Amino acid sequence: MIALKSTSIVALLLLQSLWLPAAHSQHPGGSAFDQEARKQEAIYQSRGENVPSGYVVDRSLVSYVSTLPAGFDRSLANLGPSDRWLDIGAGEGNAVLDYYTELYDAMHWEGRERRGKKAQAVAISIEDRRTPDWHQTAARLAPDQIRYLYGKRMREYSPEELGRFQLITDVIGGFSYARYLSVFMDNVLSVMDLNATFFTILLDVRPETDPDPALYKDLLFLTEIEKADGSDVKVCSWLKSISCVQVTCELNTELKRPIELYRIQKVCDKVAVPSLLPLSYQAGTPPPRRYRLGSAQSALLEELRPIDQ
Ligand SMILES: C[S@@+](CC[C@H](N)C(=O)[O-])C[C@H]1O[C@@H](n2cnc3c(N)ncnc32)[C@H](O)[C@@H]1O
Repeated sequence: MIALKSTSIVALLLLQSLWLPAAHSQHPGGSAFDQEARKQEAIYQSRGENVPSGYVVDRSLVSYVSTLPAGFDRSLANLGPSDRWLDIGAGEGNAVLDYYTELYDAMHWEGRERRGKKAQAVAISIEDRRTPDWHQTAARLAPDQIRYLYGKRMREYSPEELGRFQLITDVIGGFSYARYLSVFMDNVLSVMDLNATFFTILLDVRPETDPDPALYKDLLFLTEIEKADGSDVKVCSWLKSISCVQVTCELNTELKRPIELYRIQKVCDKVAVPSLLPLSYQAGTPPPRRYRLGSAQSALLEELRPIDQ
């Protein structure tokens, strides 16, 4: 496993500043990039009527089920009391709260006995968006049955701090918002048990299979990857190039925009995530991000590892 933590990001940025032309004013470390990062922070910390309309933090579990790939509902229902579920970018944590209701069991009768008191759930969010409902539910459940961690990004947790999970979800959370996508992905995989599954999505992305070109008309892609020669790499192809994972990518065009659904299963331990160098990042809900696929950089980072850790 390549453990790309914040120290490695420094190396990543150093390499990038060496290799990218100065014209990229939005590169990390540049002032435009800092400005966007500050604007993004203001979105995270926004409250009340200052919350931008596109920043949705209260999706229910039903909404997760209808948004994520089809297998998510069954994967969650099949978890037993010794299993753990991580929801990255949980907002108010409503999906977790819904899982602990009687209505959930009524709707998922099959496997109810085996589920017992249910899996432990950990919700993480940069900002604290817990509601009175969260506090009440946490108080009636066993200690630590549900945990809400905030104040840090996914990449700032060590695998030891979070522990291991059998199921991970991300509904327009860190996977859509992270500045360092390959670092994020590496961190997610580092807390997944063998055979654990990560369910997530991306809005407005070049899908694995090209849909009707009309969908692309005037579309601003939110997550883009390019090779060194400037040609596009699809996010799905990048995910499939990670070793030790099985990936399925599914296109949803119901909303007349290309939304890709990802199911990522960890199948062995020697995970290696091809690095993505951030080229640009603009504050938003979610933020448009562009990356360059690392090649020599990955090898170099590996070489730097003993020094920078
Ligand atoms: C648009 S809200 C989505 C909330 C929730 N999933 C929902 O659907 O209602 C984005 C969430 O992602 C979190 N987030 C963004 N980047 C993150 C990162 N790198 N690590 C952890 N959480 C992150 C934010 O703090 C926030 O909780």
